[in-house]
Amino acid sequence: MFIHRRRGWEIPESQATPEQAVRGRRGVLAGLAGAAGLVAAAPARAAWFSSLVGGGEPAKPVALAPLPAPHNARYDPKRLLTNEGVATSYNNYYEFGLSKSIAAAAQALPTDPWTIHIEGMVEKPRAIGLEDLLKQVKLEERIYRHRCVEAWAMTVPWTGFPLADLVKLAAPLASAKYMVFTTLADSKTMPGLRQSFYPWPYTEGVTMQEAANELAFLSVGMFGKTIPPQDGAPIRLTLPWKYGFKSAKSIVKVTFTDKQPVTFWEALQSSEYGFWANVNPAVPHPRWSQAQERLIGTDDTVPTRIWNGYGEYVAAMYDNLKNERLFA
Ligand code: MTE
Repeated sequence: MFIHRRRGWEIPESQATPEQAVRGRRGVLAGLAGAAGLVAAAPARAAWFSSLVGGGEPAKPVALAPLPAPHNARYDPKRLLTNEGVATSYNNYYEFGLSKSIAAAAQALPTDPWTIHIEGMVEKPRAIGLEDLLKQVKLEERIYRHRCVEAWAMTVPWTGFPLADLVKLAAPLASAKYMVFTTLADSKTMPGLRQSFYPWPYTEGVTMQEAANELAFLSVGMFGKTIPPQDGAPIRLTLPWKYGFKSAKSIVKVTFTDKQPVTFWEALQSSEYGFWANVNPAVPHPRWSQAQERLIGTDDTVPTRIWNGYGEYVAAMYDNLKNERLFA
């Protein structure tokens, strides 16, 4: 049996929002309020929304296997870890609904077997099973700050491997400039796909230079266990210097290309969400300030830091891109 160790930097239960309180935020109004950020970009679709969150038996929780991996202390978040129950029940995963409370619905996500297709400008396009992929990389645990564009943040111990390792395995051509991530779109289990004004499937992208950055990570676990469905099982991106929407969940395809992709949120609302989406307190979202962030599971609000505090690792990548809209 897996016993979760309480570590020195973990928030004590008394400081955390009770999981029930977070899970209890179901229903149309609460859901819309909770999702006031990204969701408000889309037209209100109350009837559809209530069909996604209303009633029904929650799916049986997927069993999470222990996933031990050596801890990499290089990226000390200098912030208390978010309570696990809160971090895994306050989610954005629009394929399962617009509210933050999609954890129960997401248990239906089919994750085994899982194949990732490697396509585009590579020496040899191919498909690789996740199990095979994991045999070829070394897992480690890193604690990163995770900052959503909606001005909330959490701190999570992720288990995974550098994105650069996947790039190496994929062997892209020298002409490739971008890496595009396509995520699962399974209409049988994902009610959100019924809403056709969203440009499904959810896609994201980075430059090859960003993909090679030491912070860019592919997560297959969190809190010492396999990653739960609601957080992007079985494999998701984790890009801690960018707003959370760049961190695509449940990746099924990576495509190497020489054209900058138009990603999910950009396609939906390009005036509010762009390709770069680097964190910056001085650049407000058109509808709210980014100066502060709310640490979920606590009563604390703290100042936002440029590059989410990871400037020493990433800022230099953008030195020659001053004319780009780097922070939206
Ligand atoms: N990936 C997919 N496939 N679908 C989504 O809706 N939401 C994004 C990102 N990745 C999303 C996604 C957004 S807006 C955020 S803030 C983070 O996932 C949230 O990750 P978390 O729920 O693990 O905190």
